[in-house]
Amino acid sequence: MAEDAGVFAVGVDIDAAGLITLALYGKPVGPKTVEEIKELVQSTKLPFILKGVMTVEDAMLAVETGANAIVVSNHGGRVLDHTPGVAEVLPEIAKAVKGKITILADGGVRTGVDVLKMIALGADAVLIGRPFVTASFGGAEEGVKAYIDKIAGELKSAMILTGCSSIKDIDERVVRY
Ligand SMILES: Cc1cc2nc3c(=O)[nH]c(=O)nc-3n(C[C@H](O)[C@H](O)[C@H](O)COP(=O)(O)O)c2cc1C
Repeated sequence: MAEDAGVFAVGVDIDAAGLITLALYGKPVGPKTVEEIKELVQSTKLPFILKGVMTVEDAMLAVETGANAIVVSNHGGRVLDHTPGVAEVLPEIAKAVKGKITILADGGVRTGVDVLKMIALGADAVLIGRPFVTASFGGAEEGVKAYIDKIAGELKSAMILTGCSSIKDIDERVVRY
């Protein structure tokens, strides 16, 4: 169905398997094995994204599944309190799997400087969640465009100020003290 709908990728979150609310709605939730995820990856010709990776161990297993990308994410803190922040775990995950799988990251990214920091810490690209709820509800298409333009402007400015002429130039030097 996703392929027919023309989406550019599909994926699954692997970090909310214990949410009782999903089970109450009769959803078949539960932890998945590498073999089960492999089966999902192989079931489609679309790029496959695994979301909710927070450890080096899981990132390496994600590579093993054949997925195209991981999202380093703690679900925006919505699943379990007291997990580490994404920025804390991202450098070690990037060290282990950068180049082997696309690394996306989310959680609390609000400005272009936040985008710069996540990339500096090892992400290939970042995702943004809640601000788009406000932008789209408040301003529809125009609101979303205004927010993206704001982020892009801030990122450009932050790149100039840190001497990065392209996204590829952004590395840990921009966040080292
Ligand atoms: C209302 C709401 C519903 C969400 N539902 C899901 C979900 O079903 N699956 C998922 O992987 N993440 C879900 N998320 C988490 C987001 O995908 C994202 O990881 C999180 O919002 C962190 O980014 P942010 O700080 O930019 O919002 C949800 C977030 C919100 C606010």
